[in-house]
Amino acid sequence: MAGNVPPPTWSNPANKQADSVPQPEVFVSPSPAPAPSLMSIASPINLILLSLFMVLIYWHFRPKAPVALPRGPPPVVFKTYTPKTLIQFNGLNDQPVYLAVRGRVFDVSPGRNFYGPGGPYENFAGRDASRGLAHQSFDEEMLTKDLSAPLDKLEDLDEDQLENLQSWEERFSEKYLVVGKLVAEGDPEAPSS
Ligand code: HEM
Repeated sequence: MAGNVPPPTWSNPANKQADSVPQPEVFVSPSPAPAPSLMSIASPINLILLSLFMVLIYWHFRPKAPVALPRGPPPVVFKTYTPKTLIQFNGLNDQPVYLAVRGRVFDVSPGRNFYGPGGPYENFAGRDASRGLAHQSFDEEMLTKDLSAPLDKLEDLDEDQLENLQSWEERFSEKYLVVGKLVAEGDPEAPSS
């Protein structure tokens, strides 16, 4: 029965009277839709993400205040000391602690608990400790009394004492920095003041 299907009619009643009169068919093209690719890029979610991205980029590269690095210890300058200038480095008044072994001045400040005020070996602080170390004694008499006298030449030490001294020296060399040289008062190398 496909041949009996009625032809399509206009739904507009205004056109009803003109049903009998054939009307020209007018097609109004719909307004053009935006290109699908542009729609997807400029969507609100993408705009929000883009703004967030830009904020993150700014946050990452924003000008920052220079980082303040912790100040290191002051540089150590190798100096020549005499018994008189060395003695002030006995750890009192927050001074570093130095001691001398056979003419080499060691900064023993890291061992302040041994040599600093109240420590078991405080007698060595600011002094030539050579004889005491050789004799394994921290008694007062091991120290040179007269700070203006020539340096202790240690000529009377026996083999064992020299060996003691040698091993202490090696220990200090591994553990502490050599910060200077000890010379006698009046030595041409002695500091002028
Ligand atoms: C009663 C005897 C003694 C005891 C119990 C004793 C104990 C000690 C101890 C526990 C240490 C620390 C070791 C370390 O942690 O490296 C030390 C270090 C030392 N002792 Fe004695 N000691 C004695 C006698 C002496 C004597 C007679 C001298 C004299 C020269 C001496 C000189 C030293 C020195 C120079 C150090 C090295 C500190 C450093 O590493 O800078 N000690 N002693």
